[in-house]
Amino acid sequence: MADPTPPVPEPGTNMGKALPRYEARAKVTGAPLYADDMPLPNPATALFVTSGIAKGSITSIDTSEAAGLPGVLKVYTHENAPSRQDLRHFMKGGYVADSVMPLAGPNIVNDGEIVAVVVAEDLATARDAAHRLKISYQAEQPATTFGSAGAEEKQITAGKHDVGDFDAAYGSAPVTLDVEYETPTMHHNPMELFSTAAAWDGDNLVIHEPSQFVWQLKNGAAETLGVDAAKVEVKNPFVGGAFGSKGIMTQRTGLIAAIARDLRRPVKNVVMRDQGYTLATYRAETRHRIRMGAESNGKLVALSHEGSEVTSRQDDYFVAGTTATAEMYACPNIRTGVSLVKADRNTPGFMRSPPETPYMYALESAMDEMAEKLGIDPVEFRRINDTQTSPTTGAPYTSRSLMECYDEAASSFGWSKRNPQPMSMAQDDWLIGYGCATACYPTNMMPATARIVLTPEGRAEVLIAAHDVGTGAYTVMQQIAADELGIDPAAITVRMGDTTLPPGPVSGGSMTTASAGSAVKAACEKVRQRFGGTVPAVDDMSAAFRKLGSNRIEEYAEWAPPGSGEDAIKALYKGKFGGGGGDEPKPLMYAFGAEFVEVRVHRLTREIRVPRMTGAFAAGRIVNPRTARSQYLGGMIWGLGQALLEKTELDLLRARYINDNIAEYLVAVNADVPEVDIIMVPEVDNQVNSLGVKGIGEVSNVGTAAAIANAVYHATGRRIRELPVTMDKLL
Ligand code: MOS
Repeated sequence: MADPTPPVPEPGTNMGKALPRYEARAKVTGAPLYADDMPLPNPATALFVTSGIAKGSITSIDTSEAAGLPGVLKVYTHENAPSRQDLRHFMKGGYVADSVMPLAGPNIVNDGEIVAVVVAEDLATARDAAHRLKISYQAEQPATTFGSAGAEEKQITAGKHDVGDFDAAYGSAPVTLDVEYETPTMHHNPMELFSTAAAWDGDNLVIHEPSQFVWQLKNGAAETLGVDAAKVEVKNPFVGGAFGSKGIMTQRTGLIAAIARDLRRPVKNVVMRDQGYTLATYRAETRHRIRMGAESNGKLVALSHEGSEVTSRQDDYFVAGTTATAEMYACPNIRTGVSLVKADRNTPGFMRSPPETPYMYALESAMDEMAEKLGIDPVEFRRINDTQTSPTTGAPYTSRSLMECYDEAASSFGWSKRNPQPMSMAQDDWLIGYGCATACYPTNMMPATARIVLTPEGRAEVLIAAHDVGTGAYTVMQQIAADELGIDPAAITVRMGDTTLPPGPVSGGSMTTASAGSAVKAACEKVRQRFGGTVPAVDDMSAAFRKLGSNRIEEYAEWAPPGSGEDAIKALYKGKFGGGGGDEPKPLMYAFGAEFVEVRVHRLTREIRVPRMTGAFAAGRIVNPRTARSQYLGGMIWGLGQALLEKTELDLLRARYINDNIAEYLVAVNADVPEVDIIMVPEVDNQVNSLGVKGIGEVSNVGTAAAIANAVYHATGRRIRELPVTMDKLL
């Protein structure tokens, strides 16, 4: 696991080529097959039937009419379901996103649980049969969210920081702020629906399922099915939208595979859009109390962030984003903590920048409020409290270009034209507001392995079970290999998303380029070594191969982030996170950004528009500025949706989701987003990893909501402390 430091690139040149997407032509011509498109011999269709109550039990299910329908193969309920082994929640070292085993018994612990599976020759028949099931329930009163009777509060240690003496410093600070914020439930709506196709061949199982971690799915499916993981293959070369929703396997896979084994036939299942709201994970609602104390010169002296998050009864999923608060600004007295509220809900899970998106929204809104109280420009307030070391441990950031981001974005945006007075800027009937906020995301890494094959014709193959979830990972792996081998990217084929390939990291936590890229780089270095350090030019390649007496060079490499435990690679092969984590503290590694927005709020109707957004980001080496720009754009556009549109409405009485469809669950569309300006601030960081890559998938999603809420305040003088900021709240 030696990790030689490369030559330092010149500042300003720390960027690779803006190559177009490797799979662009295939994608736009409709060539790639997604999981449910995979041709299987004579597949049966499985349709889930989900619970109509959130808590209680099934008293009876009459399947006779449904089962008697021509074309129906079998109806599964808790009374005849194939047995599976329990799987533990991934935060307890297991494999699944929700530990509730479907069809294990008559109890119902959340709305939309699977209560039956109808398997038929086709979907229409399955749907018809599903409507003919007669299910009776005994319902109990569920607890839905914060403040619901029966919801149970629980303190956790994650996200706890205590430095100095917050109470004393806050008590004596000349300027103080004490504010509360809320973020709503948000749900994934990927273009490619959640789906599983399972086909057995004797003891061997092939699973086609969209996944951000195929080696986890392979191992988890094997465990629940009680088979040897070596006999399970997962195939998933393309993912039609993920962002965390396909990051952790669910119990659906084992259920569909067990049914395929029982029926001795390939089975396909697609989770309907509304079912995805309860059969996949989501971003739970959060609440925050932030207290800040500052000197009149703007120096922070006290900072406290108490967060609270909803989770399920069965699992303690949490994001505990107070760590970002504790690391963000210089302050001698910091206290943070997180509590969970356990309700009768399906277990929440990853959604793009899971901890930072809600917690930084709160912190960055409070920073804006405090700047105003102090009479200091919001950018200057961040500059006064900027730091190059951790306020909690004193450890230095490997690099932190936050203020460079602010300066570049502010200048491009025209921040100097802002009149600090709220409601002071207007054009015709539109009030104009400018707002800004900090974006940050930690540099995460996981172990990874990769194989490189080189032929005498000068063609190479990169083989790694990482995933392209729509980010451009194919292109970036191709570029990293091309750089390392010194050959044309066009001569390199990349294969990913398949467990017949060496395991890569979860494609989450913005860690694919750093982790998978490091493994690819390590394997390429081994290939180079076969030629004494340099891969020959294409014209000399076949002669060089002859000299080596070989017609194919193949090298496999394992890579783990510095400080990983000894069993890191073994854990990766088991599809586990953390890699048996070493005990050494990780260096303090974050990508940063500064986001600026202009909003226009109609004087009378209170309609809110965002005519332009500017984001400047620094995330170490940028392998491909074209795909990077798309990531940054997508993150900010999603941030706009969080600020103004996204919210899952809860039925407080029944603990059910109301707007579980993409007609009523609003996301930003092109008409919402006229102009986004992305600036990539050059940054060289040779400590994060030998590629100098920090990861960019999530950072730009972090500051947008606060920037927009801050701009709405500047336009209207109204501080909305509860997302989304909608017209009705401004009336
Ligand atoms: Mo992301 S929420 O880590 O897929």
